Amino acid sequence: MADPRLSVLAGKRALVVGVANDQSIAHGCARAFREVGAELAITWLNDKARPHVEPLAAALGAAITAPLDVSVPGQMEAVFELIAERWGGLDILVHSIAYAPKEDLQGGLLNCSAEGFARAMDISCHSFVRMARLAAPMMAAGGTMFAMSYLGAEKVVANYNVMGPVKAALEASCRYLAHELGPAGIRVHAISPGPLKTRAASGLKDFEVLLSEAAEKAPIGELADIMDVGFTCAWLATPYARRLTGTTLYVDGGANIVA
Ligand SMILES: NC(=O)c1ccc[n+]([C@@H]2O[C@H](COP(=O)([O-])OP(=O)(O)OC[C@H]3O[C@@H](n4cnc5c(N)ncnc54)[C@H](O)[C@@H]3O)[C@@H](O)[C@H]2O)c1
Repeated sequence: MADPRLSVLAGKRALVVGVANDQSIAHGCARAFREVGAELAITWLNDKARPHVEPLAAALGAAITAPLDVSVPGQMEAVFELIAERWGGLDILVHSIAYAPKEDLQGGLLNCSAEGFARAMDISCHSFVRMARLAAPMMAAGGTMFAMSYLGAEKVVANYNVMGPVKAALEASCRYLAHELGPAGIRVHAISPGPLKTRAASGLKDFEVLLSEAAEKAPIGELADIMDVGFTCAWLATPYARRLTGTTLYVDGGANIVA
């Protein structure tokens, strides 16, 4: 008989946005949720991403798959309509996406254009607010929402540039959403993973340096991997964490505590 402790999210329905490939933090979240019993809805960015994401979704037995580019009007609404139709509700939402135009990301904050700043903010932060607005009415029995942040929200991290202010806004948005949605039994967390070799990270200048410096700092001698991030979210989505909301939780081997 299956160990019931391993099915703590059985019957829970999770929408995971941000799987690009098997290295994606969102993929770690989807795998961890599945491992403890949740049902999955997984999205892909566009036709180019679809052949990479669909097999991963199938391997995890995802009940729902759909395209979602948060900058395409109507696509987010369509995903939530599909979920309402198939599941009639939702328990867990993961927003694990970020974008900034390369020239705005790599040129320092001083040189960031208004358009680049607005685009980075819209895709990486306001899209979470829009998702929360659509997800909340579907979480009739309460729920948990997650957005992926980074240390650069709180401290100046070399080359993180415009994403620093954007992630700071994302973390503040999590707190304000936690406050607004708390009465409905919905908890909202920012998760702050340490550096991880993913496609998004490859857009940062000198990312390898960032990675090795963080690994050296981590008191436990190693950084977290995508499954560590996933199981942290899985735990936060269980009743064991029912009194926690609005936090920014570091999942980084403790690297953030060391100067
Ligand atoms: N990799 C790291 O070191 C690290 C550390 C801390 C936080 N994060 C954050 O984790 C999240 C996931 O990134 P990752 O590292 O797994 O990289 P990733 O490249 O695997 O994931 C980024 C995702 O963003 C999606 N995306 C970009 N623009 C989009 C749009 N318009 N609509 C919908 N989706 C869009 C991509 O399709 C991709 O799936 C991001 O918010 C990132 O800032 C990453």
